[in-house]
Amino acid sequence: MTFPTHGRSVEDILEEVRAERTDDLDWRSGKAFSLVYNVDDPELDALQHEIAASFLHENALNPFRYRTLLRMESEVVDMACSLFGASTGSMSSGGTESIFLAVQTARDHARARGVAAPELLCAETAHPAFAKACAYLDVTQIAVPARADGRADPDRFAASIGPNTAIVVASAPCYPFGVIDPVTEIASLAVERGVLCHVDACLGGYLLPWWERLGEAVPPWDFRVEGVTSLSADIHKYGYAYKGASTILYRDRDLYQRQVFLYDRWPGGIYASSTSAGTRPGPPIAGAWATMTHLGEEGYLRLAGRVRTAMRGFTAGIDAVDGLGITSDPDLSLFEFGADPDHDGPGGPLDIGGVADAMDDRGWNLDRQQGGLHVMLSPGHDRVVEQFVSDLVDAVAHHEADRGAEHVYGGVVGRA
Ligand SMILES: Cc1ncc(COP(=O)(O)O)c(C=O)c1O
Repeated sequence: MTFPTHGRSVEDILEEVRAERTDDLDWRSGKAFSLVYNVDDPELDALQHEIAASFLHENALNPFRYRTLLRMESEVVDMACSLFGASTGSMSSGGTESIFLAVQTARDHARARGVAAPELLCAETAHPAFAKACAYLDVTQIAVPARADGRADPDRFAASIGPNTAIVVASAPCYPFGVIDPVTEIASLAVERGVLCHVDACLGGYLLPWWERLGEAVPPWDFRVEGVTSLSADIHKYGYAYKGASTILYRDRDLYQRQVFLYDRWPGGIYASSTSAGTRPGPPIAGAWATMTHLGEEGYLRLAGRVRTAMRGFTAGIDAVDGLGITSDPDLSLFEFGADPDHDGPGGPLDIGGVADAMDDRGWNLDRQQGGLHVMLSPGHDRVVEQFVSDLVDAVAHHEADRGAEHVYGGVVGRA
């Protein structure tokens, strides 16, 4: 497309977009996972639209010009600190930026103690944002295999920590399998070896406190664990804010200071920022603040209850299907399920790619992982449990009957 000579009318533009969007993933249907957290709460939805619109043009780059945003951001950080036991932190645009900030902070902390080539140690299940941050920030990533249960292996960590290790990482939980790494063991290793420890709770941070209150078994994972020095938690995931909202938090204010950038040699004046962005849009800050204060503990607990209902229904339904199994024993509301290798059906174990295709045909959007299909549940999924289970039973039966067809799975064409 070349740059348009003449502008188009508002109606024309909106009409085009309306028509085109009918092909986009419809998350409100309940048949989508992970990209959008479907809260299924019309009141919250209305609040979010209103607050986003009212801060559409504001810029939090200079917080002293927008004191409302400054207050909202500092209250969001305070709420996060009180939830996780942190002492300070910032809002960022998402999990990836929060992770970048934690890695940059750790790199500079290591350099300050004389480590010329800092390393980051994590399990292979850690989110790719760590690999990306390491690549951008000139930190060497060492990703070690996880245990058979999908959790990080403290023994491998112990063997891999060396003089260049700047930081070790634990996920709470990891995206692929929904399991929480042994944070206590990893953080105590970090203390013993004098390195930093980051907990990536981008996914679980704003759900785990309520999960625990519902009576679910949640192993220690936040700043209550000695040795945890930083923690990322995304408000735009289970915090139910719209996109562009995460928190990066620290135990120690001095460590946080390494994240703050100050430049005083510019003719334009003193330039200071506490995250990597320059211009910072107002809507995510206002939206996060409005969502957290609107829901409060009661709202988050209620929504966590709905997520748990969905989780129980989906996992029971999958467990009941002959030939399918859940890969690990998830600690939260997301998991992988795949073909049971011991399944003794007419064609041997199921081809999970074929099952995924059959579910696609029924309108579901299950993400393909290397070993199976990924499910991440939101409150709104409690409405579709029965439909998911009956479609899955049907999809497996259809797939069993359809053996021999070609299926594209994970970019590779395979014959079932
Ligand atoms: C465990 C974990 N960490 C980090 C991220 C990155 O978050 P974002 O996509 O908001 O940058 C994700 C995203 O799914 C995640 O699941």
